[in-house]
Amino acid sequence: MAITDQPRYGYRGGGLDVSRHFFTVPAVERYIDLLAQYKFDYLRLHLSDDQGWRIAVPGLPALTGIGASTQVGGGAGGFYTDAEYRQLVAYAAARFITVVPEVDLPGHSNAALTAYPGLACPGDAKAQPYTGTDVGFSRVCTGKESTYTFVDQVVGALAAMTPGPYIGIGGDEAKTLSAADYTHFMARAAALVRQHGKQPLAWDDAASVGKGSPTLLGVWHPASQQPPGLDAQIGTAVKDGSKLVMEPADRAYLDQKYDATTQLGLQWAGFVSVQKSYSWDPDTYLGISLPAGAVAGVEAPMWSETLRSTDDLSTMLLPRLPALAEVGWTPAAERYWDEFQQRLADQAQYWQAQGLPFTRTTDVPWK
Ligand code: ACM
Repeated sequence: MAITDQPRYGYRGGGLDVSRHFFTVPAVERYIDLLAQYKFDYLRLHLSDDQGWRIAVPGLPALTGIGASTQVGGGAGGFYTDAEYRQLVAYAAARFITVVPEVDLPGHSNAALTAYPGLACPGDAKAQPYTGTDVGFSRVCTGKESTYTFVDQVVGALAAMTPGPYIGIGGDEAKTLSAADYTHFMARAAALVRQHGKQPLAWDDAASVGKGSPTLLGVWHPASQQPPGLDAQIGTAVKDGSKLVMEPADRAYLDQKYDATTQLGLQWAGFVSVQKSYSWDPDTYLGISLPAGAVAGVEAPMWSETLRSTDDLSTMLLPRLPALAEVGWTPAAERYWDEFQQRLADQAQYWQAQGLPFTRTTDVPWK
């Protein structure tokens, strides 16, 4: 027998938020194991947010000395040393997975601001350690040259410890910045990533940058919650050379509840059933027609506001992670929900053998 098979998209990512709750190196390795089982090839590690900074940066000791000491709900937090981060990169690489480090700027930056208050604009309130789950309130000062010195140092450190081609700079939900200040910041941050020999990845909010926009844009807004004009901006960014990683929250965010019975997770994007995470086409999700090749791939982000342990992660990843894997691998015309349900049900025996908890959703014929 001969099997001919190849992935539809080159970028098939998992995302892991280690900022809202910190996950240790062994916990991240268990997540990488799961990504490898389903042939994902990228891991985007969300290393900073309002609630914690999780990566050591030479010359900026307070980022971890102060910025890493918080997490949602008030636990101890934590961070990766250079050696620990490199261990994760090597563990992933041994399983054909490339790590994409992501720091979130210019919003989602409260932890950095607690560490280095000089990142704020004169007159902005002094940042306090934050352990809640609100979004959109923080900002670094986009008009100060010292802010770009900071970004340069952080990006330089990430570039030095990351063999992969991409560095994430965030760019989502900077709700307290003017459009002009936001665009100015994102264009300069993207340019700094390129100066360090890497390609910038940012959230689709950054489609507004125009020329010099990020190489990869993570499309996260659900179609029903798009800011006005976003589709058109994405279309322009694609014309200017950006590629899209499709991860719309109502299909791909694996932290969203399955249904009303789900204990963990959030539901701001609505319930994401297994069928919903499986039955969509990344090429046609947006309300604009895209040129061939505009979609680089698919990502399945796991945000951790409500998730504290590897069992929590597993309960939300399984059974939807394989659904997203197949969306990234198999042409839409060859995917059938009725048939996938049966194959997915068969996977449960492997999860059980590995001691991985999963959610017995009502839309799959579990045995
Ligand atoms: C996001 O969910 N704010 C990227």
